[in-house]
Amino acid sequence: MSHILLVGFMGAGKSTVGRMVAEKTGLPFVDLDRAIESADGRTIAQIFAEDGEAGFRRQESTALQSLADEPASVVACGGGVVTSDENRRILGSLGRVVYLRVTVDEMLARVGNDSGRPLLAGGGGVIAATALLDAREALYSAVSDCVVDTVNRTPGDIADEIVAFMRSHDAL
Ligand code: S3P
Repeated sequence: MSHILLVGFMGAGKSTVGRMVAEKTGLPFVDLDRAIESADGRTIAQIFAEDGEAGFRRQESTALQSLADEPASVVACGGGVVTSDENRRILGSLGRVVYLRVTVDEMLARVGNDSGRPLLAGGGGVIAATALLDAREALYSAVSDCVVDTVNRTPGDIADEIVAFMRSHDAL
């Protein structure tokens, strides 16, 4: 059995839904951002501020790759994990990838100008977030085995859909 990896934009609900999928399946839950923070000892915001986005991305790739040596789990990935070719290759090798889709308006309503999310903390608002999501949409889709819309749905409903998809594809 392999990992179930959740990708998608900030505020798509990857951590909330991921925890629920883990509960429903009995698999352990891994939040990649939290794993990076506990390995490094700094918050994501501090890593961005001190090492830049490139420094954060290096740690993200290392954390992602290290899952290959871990037992099957449900993994909530950071929203930018799909931006490197290498990470997309690793994602495909680790297991089944689920894209949780969210709109920019819904994302901003959910997380706002979160200071813990450096790419939103700049205050660029709708325009900056739209440009970022536009640039990533095709990457999320390309890497995913399954696309799940999240707007106007409860996390429990979304988690049920993911579990049903995994069962019907012999992934559980
Ligand atoms: C990022 C998303 C964040 C975190 C970092 C960068 C991104 O994770 O990895 O701030 O590039 O979209 P969430 O998607 O969990 O907010």
